[in-house]
Amino acid sequence: MNGRRGGLLLGTDELEQALEPFFDGGWIAEVLHEVKSGKEATVFCCRADPARGRELIAAKVYRARRLFRNDTVYQEGRINGNARTRRAIAGKSSYGRGAHDDLWAATEFETLRRLHAAGADVPEPLTGTGDAFLMEFIGDADEPATPLYAARLTPQEAPALFARLIADVELWLRHDIVHADLSPFNILYRPGRLTVIDFPQAVDPRFNGQASALLARDLGHVCNYFRRLGINADADDLAAGMWARHLGTGFIGGRPPPDVDDEEDDDDEEKSDAPILVPTWLVPPAVRKRGRRRRR
Ligand SMILES: Nc1ncnc2c1ncn2[C@@H]1O[C@H](COP(=O)(O)OP(=O)(O)O)[C@@H](O)[C@H]1O
Ligand SMILES: [Mg+2]
Repeated sequence: MNGRRGGLLLGTDELEQALEPFFDGGWIAEVLHEVKSGKEATVFCCRADPARGRELIAAKVYRARRLFRNDTVYQEGRINGNARTRRAIAGKSSYGRGAHDDLWAATEFETLRRLHAAGADVPEPLTGTGDAFLMEFIGDADEPATPLYAARLTPQEAPALFARLIADVELWLRHDIVHADLSPFNILYRPGRLTVIDFPQAVDPRFNGQASALLARDLGHVCNYFRRLGINADADDLAAGMWARHLGTGFIGGRPPPDVDDEEDDDDEEKSDAPILVPTWLVPPAVRKRGRRRRR
């Protein structure tokens, strides 16, 4: 491949390599544009191969082999989840190809697969490798869906959207998933509906000791957003209620330990004095010293 595929000059060999299987597999015909490039992944809007019966496909390509974030909190109890993911990978040849150690793309793909099958409002996952995966594109080529933080909801539509979002969070919990990075940045808005994205750090509440705190934090971000639209709901009550319904006892709530990132900069009014809940033996000393909240 000479850099140009489907009309777009891709930036790096890494990116080309990541997308190659999707061209070869007859999934995408052209990369139309980059939607967003973040620290961990870049999302592209692609024109689907006509045989796929859809117009657009989103490709999420992870940066290969770099420290993603301090993932201690999210990896706790993952042994089980990763084993499951690995089995899923083993069962699907194209999915397993190129899988590497961190498996973030595979983990996110598997989470989306389970949630979409359960009827959650998430993009439909299509196919994936260890570095990248394809999913339903939310929006259209001219107008990708607006992240909720930038959307202009009317007070009229807010209550139904809020109720459905909370029901979705509970549906995820029923399927052993806590998003763990839920915020108006990871919720896409189209009139009358919300779609939640960005699940790589999701945790399994049965095996992760921070899960109830992460659930309460997720719901806190949602409740804060909707409060300005006149909806008054208590995130901790919501979290405790759904936890009791699906996990029984063991709700701790509180605040999860702050995220830290290797290349984090400082200016952070959000820097937290919250107790570090993660067992200290799980956190490398170097990280413990530099612990800071991560801004997204
Ligand atoms: N399925 C999708 N359809 C349309 N846009 C998407 C889709 N998935 C992600 N995006 C866009 O890409 C951005 C980054 O995706 P996200 O999964 O949140 O990754 P990260 O925040 O880790 O970079 C989102 O804010 C959204 O604008
Ligand atoms: Mg995001």
